[in-house]
Amino acid sequence: MTKRKDSSIEIHTSPKESSKKATKKRNIEVPSTKSIVLRDMGYPFRVKGDPRSTGLEIDSEELFADYAREQWMGTIVHQGLYLFDRYIMPDYAFQVLEVVPEESIISKDTKIHLQSRSVVTESTSTRLVTLNEVVGHEPIKRKCKLILEYLLNPAKFGEWAPRAILFYGPPGTGKTMTAQAVANQADAKIFFAKASDLIGVHVGDGGRRISALFDDARKNSPSIIFIDELDAIGLARSFQSIRGDVSEVVTALLGELDQTAEASGVVVIGATNALPLIDPAIKNRFDTVFEFALPNIEERLGILQYYSKRLPLEIEIDLQEVARMTEGLSGRDLRDRILKESLHIAITDESSTITSEIVRGVLDKIKTKSSPNYTI
Ligand SMILES: Nc1ncnc2c1ncn2[C@@H]1O[C@H](COP(=O)(O)OP(=O)(O)OP(=O)(O)O)[C@@H](O)[C@H]1O
Ligand SMILES: [Mg+2]
Repeated sequence: MTKRKDSSIEIHTSPKESSKKATKKRNIEVPSTKSIVLRDMGYPFRVKGDPRSTGLEIDSEELFADYAREQWMGTIVHQGLYLFDRYIMPDYAFQVLEVVPEESIISKDTKIHLQSRSVVTESTSTRLVTLNEVVGHEPIKRKCKLILEYLLNPAKFGEWAPRAILFYGPPGTGKTMTAQAVANQADAKIFFAKASDLIGVHVGDGGRRISALFDDARKNSPSIIFIDELDAIGLARSFQSIRGDVSEVVTALLGELDQTAEASGVVVIGATNALPLIDPAIKNRFDTVFEFALPNIEERLGILQYYSKRLPLEIEIDLQEVARMTEGLSGRDLRDRILKESLHIAITDESSTITSEIVRGVLDKIKTKSSPNYTI
C-alpha cells in the first residue's frame, strides 16, 4: 500500500502486505473496522473522451460486501478516503462516507454497505419549506393538502388513493418547492430523480434504475418520488429507433406507475417545462395535471413581500411598483434576479439599506435584456 499521510487516496499493492505494513508503520494498535459505508464515485479521472460509463448495478449487496472486503482487507480507512477497484472494474472509485471507528482497518468482520451514487438524491434540506410559503397556486396547494392527508393516512383512501400528479410550467415557478413542501409536511422521504438520468447508457439500465427507484420509495413509504424534466423521456422517445433503451424506460415507468396502487404510501410527482413533449401514455397515468403559471401582479407582490422580509438589509422601494414592473418574471427571478442582485449591489457599495435607486437600476438592466428566458 502506498499512501501519503493525510491523503484521501489509497493505492494498493497486495492486501496482505498492506495490512502488515499499515500496522507496523504506525506502531500503534489500529482497531478493526466495524462498519463502513462506501459511495460509488465512478471514474474520477479518465482520459478525455473515454466512453466508460459510471453507475453500478448491484444485484446482491452481500456479494459486493464480500468482494470489497476481499480486496481492501488490511486497508486503514478514514472518512473521505477513496478506494479504487482493482479487479472487475480497474480504477473505479469508491469514497468512504462513514466508518466506525474512524481510522480503523478493514477486516474479515467488517460490515460493508454501498450507497450507490444513484441518480436519485434524497432531500437533505435543512430549512423546511411549507405549502404556506408557496405564493399563489391555490388549486395545486389544495390538491397537495389532499396528498398530505394520504401520506399521513394511506389506509383511509383504499383504492381511491391519489397516485401521481404532474406539474408543468416555466422554470422557477415553484414546482420543486411545492413538492419539497409536501414531503416536509408529511414527514415523508422525497426521492428526486431527473428523467434524463433515468435513461441508461446500456440497454436494461433505464428499466433497472426505474424499478430500483420505485422499490426504494416503497421501502421508505410514506414517500414521494419527484421526477423532474419528465419531458426528457417524452422527447427522447421520438428517437426510439436509435435508442431502444428509451422506450424501455417509458415501459418501465408505466409499469411502475400502474403498480403504485392502493395504500402503497407512495406518490409520484412529475414536473416538466414542456407538457406537449410528454409521452401521452405517461401523461394519462397522472391523476391530475397542474399548470404552474407565471405569477400575476398580486402573486408577484406576495413573493416580493415574503422574500424582502428575509433580506438582511431594509429595502426602500414600494414593492407594488416592483410588482407592476416585473410582468413575465418567475418567483425565482424575483428572488434571485431582483432581490438578491439588489442586495449584492448594496453590500458591494457598502450601503446600509437597499435603496430604490439600486432596485431601479437592477430592474432597468433586466428590461433591456429582452431575450425570453423560456421557450419550448
Ligand atoms: N410561487 C412561489 N412562491 C414562493 N416562492 C417561489 C414561488 N415560485 C418560485 N419561488 C422561489 O423560486 C425558487 C425556485 O422555484 P422552484 O425551484 O420550485 O422552480 P421550478 O418550477 O421547480 O423550476 P424549474 O422548472 O427550473 O425546475 C423557489 O425555491 C422559491 O424560492
Ligand atoms: Mg424544479
